[in-house]
This record gives sequence, C-alpha cells and structure tokens, in this order.
Amino acid sequence: MTLTHWTPEDLTARVGEVMTVYAEAMGYPVEVARMRQGFVVGHAQFEGMRAVAVTAADDRLLGFGYGYLGKRGQWWHDQVSQWLSPELYDRYMTDVFELVELQVRPDAQGNGIGERMLTELLDDAPGKTVVLSTPEADESASRAWRLYRRTGFQDLVRDALFPGDQRPFAVLGLER
Ligand SMILES: CC(C)(COP(=O)(O)OP(=O)(O)OC[C@H]1O[C@@H](n2cnc3c(N)ncnc32)[C@H](O)[C@@H]1OP(=O)(O)O)[C@@H](O)C(=O)NCCC(=O)NCCS
Repeated sequence: MTLTHWTPEDLTARVGEVMTVYAEAMGYPVEVARMRQGFVVGHAQFEGMRAVAVTAADDRLLGFGYGYLGKRGQWWHDQVSQWLSPELYDRYMTDVFELVELQVRPDAQGNGIGERMLTELLDDAPGKTVVLSTPEADESASRAWRLYRRTGFQDLVRDALFPGDQRPFAVLGLER
C-alpha cells in the first residue's frame, strides 16, 4: 500500500472514489455522499488545502484525509465558532487547519492507515492548531475517538448539532 500527498487536482480527479470511501466509512447511502461531492471539489481550492491518500497495489483507494486553513465566512468555521467562548475562539480558531475528512474503507480499517494518514497530513499542514468534528460515540469503543485521543485532541464542544444532521458531534482541537 502507498501513501501519497495529493494536490488539489488529484483530489478533484478522484473525487468519485473519495465519495465512495466516505459513504462506506461513515455508513451513509452513496447518493447522500454524492450530494457532498461539489463541496469537496470546492474545498480542494481553499487556502492551505492539504490532502493525503492511501492506495492498494492495484491503485484502489483505501483511505483519504484532507483539510484547509479555516476562515470566517466559511460554513463549518462559522458553525463551530458560534459555540466557542471568545477565549477558545482566539486560542483555537485564528490560525487553524480544519481537518474536514479522515476516512478508511471498512475492509481496510484497523491496520494503522488512519493514524499514518493523520500524522503525514499534520506534518505537512499549516496552522497553529487543528480542529475537527466527529460523531459522538463511546470513546473506548470507537476507532476514531481512540485515534484522536492518542494523538492529543482535546474537547472543545460536545453534543453539538450541525444543521441538516440529526447526529450529535463533538468538536476536538489540538495545539501544535
Ligand atoms: C477513524 C478511522 C479513520 C481510523 O483509521 P484506521 O486505519 O481504522 O485506524 P488506526 O490508524 O487508528 O489504526 C487502527 C488500529 O491499528 C493500530 N495500529 C497503529 N499503527 C499500526 C500499524 N503500523 N500496524 C498495525 N496496526 C497499527 C492502532 O493502534 C489502532 O488500534 P485500535 O483501533 O485498536 O485503537 C477509520 O476507522 C474510519 O474511517 N472510521 C469510520 C469513519 C470515521 O469515523 N471517520 C472519522 C470521522 S471524523
């Protein structure tokens, strides 16, 4: 298996496969994931965008992750900012790499791919802090939570509801 740093053009060119992995990993119907495809193509052009991908020997996409520098006026940045105190906003959101997606195909999970992608992505990412949102889950039973905890992410917000999604999310942050 191979880990590659993707350019914005790579992310855009393989966005169909990206959305399939996203749907499988998050348990969304593929049609729902496809509705988000345009957002990912848009994110590819954001300032500070960094993306990584892991592929199998036959070039099948096993996992991907990406993020960008967050700014006021962006949907996710503004949603999260309204839940933070001015102190937490200043500390975490003023020079922030927002980790938008980190997904591994279910049949490839549990082999360290997620951790490798996260490490490589953050080694290369700009920003003083990293912030992400992830579905609420049992912290010891969820692979995503175990990964974020062992890499040092702290709680910023718990049980937050984003418009259009009924599942509660946590917002986690990391100072670098
Ligand atoms: C969360 C996710 C990205 C993690 O990726 P992953 O490759 O499955 O997980 P990890 O890199 O953490 O590795 C899994 C296990 O392998 C272990 N591991 C680490 N390095 C390893 C290596 N080099 N070789 C083998 N195993 C290794 C880890 O200790 C980890 O153990 P644990 O899960 O029992 O705690 C992935 O499981 C996923 O896509 N989940 C569904 C979607 C999701 O929740 N995404 C995040 C939402 S924001």
